[in-house]
Amino acid sequence: MTETLLKENRDGVLIVTLNRPDKKNAINNDMWLAIREAFIDAAADDSVSCLLLCGAGDDFCSGVDLSCFAESLTDMEHPFASAARAVAAFDKPIVAAAQGAAVGGGATVLFHADIVYVSESLRMRLPFASLGLAPEWASSYMLQANIGVQRAAELFYTAQWIDADKAHASGIAADVLPDANLFSHALAKANEIARWPVNSLREIKRCLRIHHTAAIEAALEAEQAAMSRQAGSPENIEAVTAFIEKRAPDFRNL
Ligand code: COA
Repeated sequence: MTETLLKENRDGVLIVTLNRPDKKNAINNDMWLAIREAFIDAAADDSVSCLLLCGAGDDFCSGVDLSCFAESLTDMEHPFASAARAVAAFDKPIVAAAQGAAVGGGATVLFHADIVYVSESLRMRLPFASLGLAPEWASSYMLQANIGVQRAAELFYTAQWIDADKAHASGIAADVLPDANLFSHALAKANEIARWPVNSLREIKRCLRIHHTAAIEAALEAEQAAMSRQAGSPENIEAVTAFIEKRAPDFRNL
């Protein structure tokens, strides 16, 4: 069976690749478990100085796998919750390289990267309202802390598409690259970081994140409660069913 997550340590940079390209790297339960394990192991591994997160194929990640959504995001034991916490708690620099679709969890995971590079093909979306859901992965805090409350609210409420230039202009991304150069550029930056002592990198990250730690925790808890109210609601079922049936959702009679 093909591995859903690929890992390769290249000179202190752990390259972590989401690997379900035929499903636009949608994250199924196997991948959630692999993400959690990869981040926990990499945090404890002193041969890893920096983590580079990327997606196989033409897309970064289309978020949670909606075809197994019935397995429920409401359960605290669901691998999503612990994977999200492992990523949020990771104590070394994360560089991300995102191309093509970056939707739902495929967008919100990027808010936990210290540096995000995107390519010209990026199409990012926070689809929670359109799915009858609530935000996740502490995005309700991370995005407003990064780009401001009003810009974040616009993106959450409208569920509009965000292209590479908008991601860059708003501060979601550090730079926009041609698709062909995205990975090599992100890897070169990760290599620049990885040459420095890992303990110094950890201390820098601790200082950068200390202001946000309590807010991230509060957001994770509030979102979990909101998600448990919305997951499985009539509007959520209609939205997921519509996606599986490849049609537009119809919320009019709910
Ligand atoms: N869960 C399960 N399958 C997914 C998926 C997801 N999140 N995202 C994409 N796929 C699958 C599609 O069902 C399709 O499978 P098929 O070839 O067996 O029919 C394949 O990946 C290609 O996706 P497709 O929708 O045909 O590509 P597209 O370029 O037209 O659109 C997206 C790409 C990402 C815009 C679209 O797939 C999408 O909106 N996905 C859902 C994103 C989402 O809402 N995620 C949940 C966040 S909580």
